Amino acid sequence: MTYKIAVIPGDGTGPEQVREGLKVLEAVAQLEGFRYETVLYDLGGERYLRTGETLPDGVLEELRQFHAIYLGAIGHPEVKPGILEKGILLRLRFELDQYINLRPVKLYPGVETPLKDKGPEDIDFVVVRENTEGLYSGAGGFSRKGTKDEVALQVSINTYKGVERCVRYAFDYCRKRNRKKKLTLCGKTNVLTYAFDLWERVFHSVGESYPDITRDYAHVDAICMWMVKNPEWFDVIVTDNMFGDIITDLGAMIQGGLGIAAGGNINPEGVSMFEPIGGSAPKYAGKNQINPLAAIMALAMMLEYLGEERAAARVERAVQEVCSRHLKSMAAGRMGYTTSEVGDLVVRHLDLN
Ligand code: IPM
Ligand code: MN
Repeated sequence: MTYKIAVIPGDGTGPEQVREGLKVLEAVAQLEGFRYETVLYDLGGERYLRTGETLPDGVLEELRQFHAIYLGAIGHPEVKPGILEKGILLRLRFELDQYINLRPVKLYPGVETPLKDKGPEDIDFVVVRENTEGLYSGAGGFSRKGTKDEVALQVSINTYKGVERCVRYAFDYCRKRNRKKKLTLCGKTNVLTYAFDLWERVFHSVGESYPDITRDYAHVDAICMWMVKNPEWFDVIVTDNMFGDIITDLGAMIQGGLGIAAGGNINPEGVSMFEPIGGSAPKYAGKNQINPLAAIMALAMMLEYLGEERAAARVERAVQEVCSRHLKSMAAGRMGYTTSEVGDLVVRHLDLN
């Protein structure tokens, strides 16, 4: 069997990061003896500026044929915010029904965290972010736009089915992870009394089939506080799209920054897409200074999802080793190595076992 992987390097530093990920993929495939082929797609700001296209229907149909998609970054300084994000990234998530955004928050040994007195044993949890609904659905509109009587609506859509499949995934994931066996629902039941009423009811009703998992609840603002003060309390957190977006940037910071944070947009029955959480960082584009470890960890997540668990573990171990023993910092331009040197270092540590 040959894995078919679509590669979208995208904008800014995306291509440099993806290049290192593909370098690692080639090396780990050799070591583990699996085969794959990649097809490159030039979606992103440059193509949009040249042709006016974001994600053409034909490309979307092609992407449905792959086992997975490996994405760099989307976002271009010369394109108005929203066009590429909605037209490419969010459209891919929605059209491919990648209803889970899985974001591990894990501090590796030797990586600096801004949290005083917290270490790798304290910062190790996973956020399961709903990825197709909520405030991201695009529902809403203006009336009397441009006048002082203007009204702008942005509607959060929460469907029973959408919430249920997300919550169920989170319970299953928590069971499979087999750590503290605790699932925390992150909501705002005291104010968003419709949306999170639904979430809470579904959470408890699905949770009845998981007696081995402890159910926990916290409001999103409190979660932000605990993520800083007591991150060791968390095992798996499940939440809606908007809250998930926000708390995973906080999560990225406590695990050492966007240089290391990776995520997967997952459709368990379809085509999933893996990406570094950070953006296109245009100011570093083409400078060989960006940290590729987030993209390399996204690759590890992709390998695990494809069923190449040993390969995924090899990559993660290598990344850990490079973090602990080599990189001076996770920040772009301050790693003590160039982007491509970091990729080489990871490749060199793949056979640690
Ligand atoms: C993320 C990003 C995206 C999001 C943007 C670029 C649309 O911030 O993947 O977290 O809000 O989901
Ligand atoms: Mn985000």
